[in-house]
Amino acid sequence: MSQIVHLNGKFLPIDQAFVPVLDRGFIFGDGVYEVIPVYSRHVFRLEEHLTRLQNSLDGIRLVNPHTNAEWAALINELIARNEGDDQYIYFHVTRGVAKRDHAFPKDTAPTVFMMSSPLTTPPRELCETGVSAVSAIDNRWDRCDIKAIALLPNVLLRQLAIDHGAVETILFRDGVLTEGAASNIFAVENGVVLAPPKDHCMLPGITYDLVLELAAANGIPLEIGKFTESRIRAADELWLTSSTKEILPITRFDGHPVGNGRSGAVFWKMHGLYQEYKAKVMRSPA
Ligand SMILES: Cc1ncc(COP(=O)(O)O)c(C=O)c1O
Repeated sequence: MSQIVHLNGKFLPIDQAFVPVLDRGFIFGDGVYEVIPVYSRHVFRLEEHLTRLQNSLDGIRLVNPHTNAEWAALINELIARNEGDDQYIYFHVTRGVAKRDHAFPKDTAPTVFMMSSPLTTPPRELCETGVSAVSAIDNRWDRCDIKAIALLPNVLLRQLAIDHGAVETILFRDGVLTEGAASNIFAVENGVVLAPPKDHCMLPGITYDLVLELAAANGIPLEIGKFTESRIRAADELWLTSSTKEILPITRFDGHPVGNGRSGAVFWKMHGLYQEYKAKVMRSPA
C-alpha cells in the first residue's frame, strides 16, 4: 500500500500530490503546521493540537479552513488509509496560491496538506544511554509560539547538532534557556523539574504540557521560570520532549556529561508516567 496523503479535499498517493509553484507556502513559508502522534490508531491529544493550530492560524491571521470535527474526520480517514498502528500525522495550512506579493491575497483559498508517516518511538536502550546535545544562541524571531512552516532557523540550528554528532541543539536567548531546535527542554536540579515559561520565545509543546500535568498530578516538584545557561549546564538531568521523541534524556551537553552521564531517576519516573498515560489513551475508544 503506498502512502496516502490528503490535499485540498482529496486523498491520493503521495507521488500524485502536487502543489502549484506559486503556493505561498513554497514562495514565502506563509503557513502553519501540526504534528500529532497516533498510537495503536488512537490520536494523541487531538483537542490540544487543534487548539494550538487555531492559535498558530490566529497568529498569522489566516482563517481556519475546517472545524475541529472536520479536522478529526480527515485525520481519522488518513489514519485508516495508511498502514501501521503507530503513525504520526503532519498537516499544514498555507495562505494558498496567488501572484507573488508579500501583501495577503484577497479571496484565495488556503492550501491544506496532510500526510501520515510511520511512528517509531525511542527504544528503551536510547532512554538508558540518552542522547547528546550542543548549545547555540537562539537567533530566531520573537513569535516562536507560532508553529510556522518557515523553519529555516530551526533547520540551521538542528543541523549544528548533527554536524557535531549530536541529536539536538539547546537554545539560549540573552543567556536564558528557551527550547531546542525541534523540541522543548527540561532540566532537573536537586529533584526539582525546571521548565521555561510558555511565552513568545518557545513553542508551547503538547508534550511539554503533558509533562507539567503529570508532574503536578504525581507530586513531582516543578519550577517554571527563566533559567540561566550556567544553571542549565550544572543541572543533574536534562530532557528533551516532542510528539515524536516523547521524553528523551540528554546525557551529554557540549561534550560534557550531564550529571553522572546516565539517564536520571526523575527522568525514569516521568517516563513511566508518560507510558502509563499513553497506555490509557490506547485503551480508550478510538
Ligand atoms: C521548536 C519546537 N519546540 C517544541 C516542540 C515540541 O512540541 P510538541 O511536544 O507539541 O511536539 C517542537 C516539535 O516539533 C518544535 O519543533
